[in-house]
This record gives sequence, structure tokens and C-alpha cells, in this order.
Amino acid sequence: MSETHHGARHVAIIMDGNGRWAKKRFLPRVAGHKAGVEAVRTIVRAAAEMGLEALTLYAFSSENWKRPEEEVSDLMGLMKRFILSDLDEFAANDVKLKIIGNWRALAPDVVELIEKALSRTAGNSRTTLAVALNYGAQDELVRAAAAAAAAGAITAEAIEAHLDTADLPPLDLLIRTSGEVRLSNFLLWQSAYAELYFTDTLWPDFKPADLQAALDHFARRERRYGGL
Ligand code: FPP
Repeated sequence: MSETHHGARHVAIIMDGNGRWAKKRFLPRVAGHKAGVEAVRTIVRAAAEMGLEALTLYAFSSENWKRPEEEVSDLMGLMKRFILSDLDEFAANDVKLKIIGNWRALAPDVVELIEKALSRTAGNSRTTLAVALNYGAQDELVRAAAAAAAAGAITAEAIEAHLDTADLPPLDLLIRTSGEVRLSNFLLWQSAYAELYFTDTLWPDFKPADLQAALDHFARRERRYGGL
């Protein structure tokens, strides 16, 4: 599959439903998260092939610390392994890694790994994979407003320029899997004009065809809007 004419540049996904995917199979939650990482791999590849400039994934919210310690450590472990194992593929496929959220507050080994991955992929330009880690949109907005105030004036433009996503194209489409219809403190500012797309598919079952369906939906919405 090569470039499709959906017109979207930046897609974000709230990857929900790993736990339910595992439960349906009588497996531990971590098995759902592992399957979720496989879906991430496939979708990152597909996003690049579909011509997206940026894909932002909600991997760990600032609220996720409330989960049992074991699950938090499983998620961090999966994240580390994902970065380690896929770094070569990012390099080969011209994917630039970006992390949004308070990632510098994570464990020192995670921070070190992220820093290496960021510098190794900094020169890539086909697609940016932005992973939200220890991210909360209200926190992002508070930080951006404070930075704007420190720089002189709190205007919409100044806030926008200090968001974690400032260097990404505007958000076109926000997808949430698993049937929940909430934004859960993800990209609140950036969603102001984004198309929202909710699907019952659980994240580990989300395939490139599902991403294509969401992009087709976006293209239809765009056309309707343009025709008004
Ligand atoms: C939601 O499922 C998913 C998460 C909280 C974590 C998402 C993380 C991954 C897909 C793996 C790591 C990510 C990367 C980028 C390598 P849930 O546990 O809330 O599911 P449930 O609502 O069915 O319980």
C-alpha cells in the first residue's frame, strides 16, 4: 500500500482495550499489553506506508501510575523492549521517534534509553512516531501556558508554540479503540478541530485495514465540510 488520498497528515490513537482482549482469552493483562505492542509495530509501519507525517500514540498517561505496581512495571518493561528492538527498523524506515509528556521524570534507565533513541532517529523525516509517556493534556497545557507567560504573553499562538506537539502538523484525526467515548486527558488542545473516530475494535485487534477505514471516514468528512 502506498500513499492514499485521505488528506490526513497527523493521526493520534488512544490504544484502549488490551486488558479486555486478554480477559476474553483467559490470559493475564500483560499478555494483552504484549499483543498491544505487536499492534503498535504493525500500525507504525502502515502509517508510514499510508503517507502520514505523524502518528501520536497514548502509551502511558500520567493517571496510569494508579494501576497496580506490577502492571506499571510490565508496561515500562514492554516500552523499553519496544524501543530497543525496533530502533533499527525506525532507522531503516526513516521514522523519527518523539516522546511527549513528562518523560524525563521516568526511571533513569528509561530516560537514558529514550535519549539514545531520540538522538539516533533525529535525522529521520518520513514519519514521526510520537509516543505519549507520563502524558496528561492538562499538565501539558499548564506547562505551555507557564512557558508562554514567561516568554511575555499568554495568547493562543504562544500556548500552541509551547505544546509538546509544537513541531508536529495539526492533528487531523483522533482514534479511540475499544468502544470508550472519552478523550481521557489526551491532546485536549490539539483536538479542538480534529475529527474524532471511535471504534469497538480492541487495540490488539486493530489492523492496518482499520486505520485505512478511519482515514476513509476522515476523507469523507473532509469532502462534506469542503462542500458546504
Ligand atoms: C489500554 O488498555 C492500554 C494501555 C493503558 C497501554 C497502552 C500500551 C501499549 C499498547 C503497549 C506499549 C506501547 C508502545 C508504544 C510500545 P487497558 O489496559 O486500559 O485495557 P482495558 O480497558 O481493556 O482494561
